[in-house]
Amino acid sequence: MELAGRTVILTGASGGIGQPLCAALVAAGARVLAVGRDEAKLRRVAQDMPAGSTSWVVADVATEDGRAHLLRAAQAASPLPSVLVLAHAQAAFGLFEEQDPVDMDRLVQTNLVAPMLLAHALLPLLRTHASAAVVVVGSTFGSLAFPGFAAYSASKFGLRGLTEALAREYADTGLRFQYLSPRATRTPFNTPAVDALNAELKVSSDVPAEVARQLVAAIVQGRSRMQIGWPEKLFARINGLVPGLVDRNLRNSLPIVRRHARRPRSSTEENIHHEPRLR
Ligand SMILES: NC(=O)c1ccc[n+]([C@@H]2O[C@H](COP(=O)([O-])OP(=O)(O)OC[C@H]3O[C@@H](n4cnc5c(N)ncnc54)[C@H](OP(=O)(O)O)[C@@H]3O)[C@@H](O)[C@H]2O)c1
Repeated sequence: MELAGRTVILTGASGGIGQPLCAALVAAGARVLAVGRDEAKLRRVAQDMPAGSTSWVVADVATEDGRAHLLRAAQAASPLPSVLVLAHAQAAFGLFEEQDPVDMDRLVQTNLVAPMLLAHALLPLLRTHASAAVVVVGSTFGSLAFPGFAAYSASKFGLRGLTEALAREYADTGLRFQYLSPRATRTPFNTPAVDALNAELKVSSDVPAEVARQLVAAIVQGRSRMQIGWPEKLFARINGLVPGLVDRNLRNSLPIVRRHARRPRSSTEENIHHEPRLR
């Protein structure tokens, strides 16, 4: 797909991957409608781009109001958007039983429900074009579920299923659905605990500009799916074919995952824990 002259809606445009992705889309000739919740961040992103190439819309895509606002902005854009890139997400790393149910609910709303409802709302507009694309930025954890990332893995597995089903449902139309997965990438998405886990497990991480370059290349090539990185590509496939092998491998890493994922105890909790021993 040629990006020159198209309007691309980019969610997560103010993020660590979103910013270089915005620049790479603009470099490929697209006009970008940048989406995020923080206007100051979006303004800075637009200011870094060539004049007139990037406008923004402030919207929390996890809310009905936010999605309606984005839809109105998309309808007012010229030319009408023909590409939707879903690159926003909420992160969560921690032991499952220590997760806040409200946070888990919000994560699934943001990472899975919002992309599904946004794609649904924008479909009539995208289909006014002979060729259009919905690009979902996934994750290795959407093919290989990881301990310490249960809710996040669930949301990305859901996104992969959604994208695959839609790609098949629209296979005989000009609308493409693409599921493109970065591996660990050096952005603020990863907390210091995740960085420490990755370092101890010797997980490679990419620079965001390189990820953005590969994402735009995959969009232009119209690839249905892409996993960035080796051995992540291989592990994702092995997990699909013989998940028991990955179970055994990750079981060996569990003590390390638990050590990094455990919620730090507050001083009150420490006191409660120690009290019986003091008596
Ligand atoms: N970094 C990694 O290691 C990594 C690895 C694999 C996959 N990925 C995926 O790559 C994508 C981008 O990640 P990143 O590293 O760029 O993350 P990031 O730096 O944390 O940026 C997240 C972006 O999402 C936006 N966002 C979050 N919740 C939102 C909401 N409810 N409504 C609107 N915007 C929202 C944020 O904007 P505001 O906060 O301003 O709203 C921000 O622009 C995500 O889909 C992530 O799952 C990342």
